[in-house]
Amino acid sequence: MMTPTAQDLAIDRILAAHRDEPGALLPILHDIQAELGHVPETVIPRVAHALNLSRAEVHGVISFYHDFRSAPVDRPVLKLCRSESCQARGSEALAATLAGETRVKVEPVYCLGLCSVGPNAMVGDAVHARLNPARLGALVEALA
Ligand code: FES
Repeated sequence: MMTPTAQDLAIDRILAAHRDEPGALLPILHDIQAELGHVPETVIPRVAHALNLSRAEVHGVISFYHDFRSAPVDRPVLKLCRSESCQARGSEALAATLAGETRVKVEPVYCLGLCSVGPNAMVGDAVHARLNPARLGALVEALA
């Protein structure tokens, strides 16, 4: 019998924590990504089995939601809000300042729920509000 890896144990713990909840798939996938940084293809059969779903159903959910990654990201992810309120407050100009930036992976996100203090960005669970080019540049420097 093979010794379980740290990843196996983490998946076991996450499945045990959620498997009896209604709508457990999304919380399980979020926790797996939070723990591992991505949702590896190799966990799909285990998640499907635990929830009595097909592998295609689990894969379909992972591929539908842009937040889920199937491969690790080798740099910090900065999610810049591109929704209307942040656009009106200058998020497009901020995005332009990040063109060619290789130290962080810049992804769009559509409303972080803090529209009145935009433009906003999110790194991990932290929201960074009232961004301007200088504050965004300092954030990227801090992440690099
Ligand atoms: S539009 Fe950016 S936080 Fe709502």
